[in-house]
Amino acid sequence: MIKVGGSLGAEMTGACADIAELAEQGGEVVVVHGGGTEADRLAAELDRPTRTMTAPNGRHSRYTDAPALDALAMAMLGRVKPALVTALTGAGLRAVGLSGIDGSQVTARRTPPARAVVDGVEQVVRDDFSGRIHQVDPDLVLTLLGGGYVPVVSPPALDPALGMLNVDADRFAARLSLALAADWLIILSNVPGLLRDPADPTSLVTEVPCEELSRYLDGAGGRMKVKLQSAGEAFVAGVPHVVLADGRLDSPVLAARAGAGTTFVRGTR
Ligand SMILES: Nc1ncnc2c1ncn2[C@@H]1O[C@H](COP(=O)(O)OP(=O)(O)OP(=O)(O)O)[C@@H](O)[C@H]1O
Ligand SMILES: [Mg+2]
Repeated sequence: MIKVGGSLGAEMTGACADIAELAEQGGEVVVVHGGGTEADRLAAELDRPTRTMTAPNGRHSRYTDAPALDALAMAMLGRVKPALVTALTGAGLRAVGLSGIDGSQVTARRTPPARAVVDGVEQVVRDDFSGRIHQVDPDLVLTLLGGGYVPVVSPPALDPALGMLNVDADRFAARLSLALAADWLIILSNVPGLLRDPADPTSLVTEVPCEELSRYLDGAGGRMKVKLQSAGEAFVAGVPHVVLADGRLDSPVLAARAGAGTTFVRGTR
C-alpha cells in the first residue's frame, strides 16, 4: 500500500516508476492518495477559499460545509486521481481510479456537531461533512488486483444515510491496508519523515518504537499528528512494515523499503 501525499502535487514521477517496478516483479500494489493542496487551489479558483475550524483543544481541521465538500470531491476525483492514474498508466500499468464511495468500500460516520472557532467566531458547527471511517470492505480492491489492475483509491468515504463524507487520507490508507492485510504501508509526503524539528529537514526520526507512540504524538503538531497516529495504529494493529517517507526522491518507494524515512518498530533498541 502506497499513500501518495497531496503535498507532493505533480512530484509523483519517481513514485509511479517504483510502483511499476514492484508490479513488474509480481507485487500487488494499491495506491491511496490525498489532495489537500489541490483542494485548496480549486476552492480558491471557485471563489470559496478553504476555511479552517479550530477545536477547543487547538486542533485545526478543514471546515467541510456542502460547497467545500463539493470542491474537495471535484479536486480529488477530477484532478488528483486522473493525474495519478495517467502517470501510472504512463509507467506501463493498468491503473483504475476509485473512491471510498465506489462499491460502498469505505463507509464513515459523520462527526457530531461540535464547538469550534470558524472565521474568528466560536460556534457549534452543525454543517461539517467530515467523519471517521466506520468499515472498510476490501472486496472491490481485491477483485481489481486479481484482474491485474492497480487500484488508485481515495476519500471521500460514504455515509449510507448522508452521502459523501470527507475523511483523512492517511487514515483511509491505514484502514485499507489493514483490511487488505498489506505487508507494507508506505506513506509518502513532502518531508523526509517525522522530523524532531519541522523546520530542520536533517532532524529525521529514523525509528518510532510503537510503545513510545503516545510520546511522539504529544510532540507532533499539525498535519503530522494524524499521519503519525494513522501509521502507528496500522502498525500496532498488524501491518508489519509501516514507513513515513519522502516522496520527492527519485526512487521513493524503493528507498522506503530499503530503510529511508521513519520506520515503526517494536521494542526499544
Ligand atoms: N514534526 C513534523 N515532521 C514532519 N512534517 C511535519 C511535522 N509537523 C508538521 N509537519 C508538516 O506536515 C506536512 C505533511 O503533511 P500534509 O498533510 O501537509 O501532507 P500530505 O499528508 O502529504 O498531504 P494530504 O493530506 O493532502 O495527502 C509537512 O509538509 C510539514 O509541513
Ligand atoms: Mg495529510
